[in-house]
Amino acid sequence: MATGIGFGKMILFGEHFVVYGYPSIASGITEHTIATIEASNEPGFTVVDNRNASKEYKDKYRKKQRDSIQMMNKAIWGLDFEKTPIKCTLTGNLLCASGVGASAASCVSMARAVSEHFSLGYDDEIINKCGLEGDKAYAGNPSGIDNTCSTYGGFMDYKKNLGTGPHHIQPITTKKKLHMVMIASKKMTPTTVVIEGVREWGLANPERFASIMAESIAIHGMGMIALKSGDLDTIGKLMNRNHELLQTVTASRKELDDLVLLCRENGALGAKMTGGGRGGYMIALAPDESVQTRIADAARARGFELMTPIIGNDENNGE
Ligand code: MEV
Repeated sequence: MATGIGFGKMILFGEHFVVYGYPSIASGITEHTIATIEASNEPGFTVVDNRNASKEYKDKYRKKQRDSIQMMNKAIWGLDFEKTPIKCTLTGNLLCASGVGASAASCVSMARAVSEHFSLGYDDEIINKCGLEGDKAYAGNPSGIDNTCSTYGGFMDYKKNLGTGPHHIQPITTKKKLHMVMIASKKMTPTTVVIEGVREWGLANPERFASIMAESIAIHGMGMIALKSGDLDTIGKLMNRNHELLQTVTASRKELDDLVLLCRENGALGAKMTGGGRGGYMIALAPDESVQTRIADAARARGFELMTPIIGNDENNGE
């Protein structure tokens, strides 16, 4: 049996603006999707989706999942699944909802398992390309940040190249570990719809859009310094400001804003929506493990599902 892994991710700064070629900061999380592939008697590429996800999420994305497999096959794999049928089972501890890179994680995990099953010998660079091709079915013309986090994991500075050259991908070493809470809002809007909404808002408000982009660049710059110097207070403040920018360009929604407030009331240094928005996940930065637990408990008590990833490095412990 062949297996492949794809990590989830969180965007700390710059989602949506990254689509326009502005810099962003994101991190893979250890929560992941696993694809297991075996030969099948059923013709074609059969998917058994046992991921931890709501029925709504799976139903809404079922067709896009089929499309993503076809797109990866057409662009890179070039396989005939009628002649060599396979069954692909998706599992893992990633709680799938929009904003956590679940679609990219599924594509990357499938590409790794396909490579192993058919002895294709793909390296990470090709796997990352598969992830991007597959994610196009879900996100239209994605920036590539999700598949990159899903393939390589770790903290990164990411900037899309709007031309034909490679994207800027630079690993970041943080001075401190970041205790995060990622809460799924129970609401969902396809990423393509939000990206289009943000684009329309930008066209209707060109001057404000330009100044928001300029501020996003500043947030990125200050964020890099804060991450490298372990200044958690500043990272939190920048997350709060980034959330306001995303609210302005219509990427947030009341349910996400309410969760952001809940996290701040329970001691978060900063909180914001993450990823596509208008539903899906939001993230909060806790100063330490005990506040992380307090925030998580407050959200769980209100019936929300969540994950508590710890991202980044800890210089003092050599990690
Ligand atoms: C989705 O996780 C992040 C967006 O910026 C889209 C993209 O970067 O492709 C909204």
